[in-house]
Amino acid sequence: MTSPRKILVTGGAGYIGSHTVQLLLEQGYDVAVVDNLSKGYRRNVPAGRLFAMNIADTKALTELMRQTRTEAVIHFAASIAVGESMREPETYFANNTCASLSLLTAMLRADVKHLVFSSTAAVYGNPHASPILESFPLQAVNPYGESKVMVETLLRWFGAIHHLTSVSLRYFNASGCDPQGRLGEEHEPETHLIPLLLRAVATGTPVTVFGGDYDTPDGTCIRDYIHVLDLAQAHILALEYLMQGGASDQFNVGTGTGHTVMEAIRAVEEVTAQKVPYVIGPRREGDPPALVASSDKLRSKLGWSPKYGDLRTIVEHAWNFARSKS
Ligand code: UFG
Repeated sequence: MTSPRKILVTGGAGYIGSHTVQLLLEQGYDVAVVDNLSKGYRRNVPAGRLFAMNIADTKALTELMRQTRTEAVIHFAASIAVGESMREPETYFANNTCASLSLLTAMLRADVKHLVFSSTAAVYGNPHASPILESFPLQAVNPYGESKVMVETLLRWFGAIHHLTSVSLRYFNASGCDPQGRLGEEHEPETHLIPLLLRAVATGTPVTVFGGDYDTPDGTCIRDYIHVLDLAQAHILALEYLMQGGASDQFNVGTGTGHTVMEAIRAVEEVTAQKVPYVIGPRREGDPPALVASSDKLRSKLGWSPKYGDLRTIVEHAWNFARSKS
């Protein structure tokens, strides 16, 4: 019997990272998690797998990869709030770009040659057409998106010069959670639409819809909501592709279907059988009207397809988790 592949996951105590770790373990991988626990939760990581350290510590990370005989890395650790990045760009370039450079340096020293990178639809800025193809120009409109573009650039050069192969996964709107409710979305502060809608139902405090005058069917923004487990599975397919000798590449991860904010509100009302209290407020600065992925490349090249493709299922799973917490 062959021994399980050894994977290092940075940011594995966070929302998307912890779901991916769970799926990796279920699929027979041997996983070590590095997380500084600034946003993630110790309880999200199975006992004995967490190494509480900062990826900016190149020396410690190199040592850990050597000790655990890491074969490939999945890199989630990052700051993720677009609005915050407009106030504190330095945090985003330090935590996302510089810390990723530290990770890549440690990988070189430990002779680890494959990386799956957590990129974002924010690399496209305000795209000129929909759905968005991977070949569209990278024109980030905030430091968060730019910090990820910069990592994609680092990866290109580390590939060309050091033969490190990587897949950048450009996520659309990650949402939902483990159907069994073992893990969920717990950001502090919460800025994401679906958990905020569920919170509004639970507390009765209205949520603000950011803009009702966009050029969309009901005037609210369109997004492509992707179930976190479908996103996690995309990481595992990317990992297998790289470990089988695949060349570096970039893929969108979305379902290819967009939903307006009002459609999300209706889905929450159906699932919870309660009214969502909301008010229509002004537009949020930097929000593109519509972001919908073309996921054709991911489907055709990596054989991915979503298992939980509809918004209602996403909301159901998120609601199960929210109820288990209250
Ligand atoms: N929205 C509201 N009210 C709220 C929160 C959100 O109306 O209180 C709307 C937003 O305007 C947007 C949609 O709901 O139209 C989704 O907003 P989120 O904040 O949940 O997600 P974003 O689309 O802004 O951001 C997501 C990820 C980012 C990533 C971005 C890529 O959270 O990390 O997609 O474009 F950068």
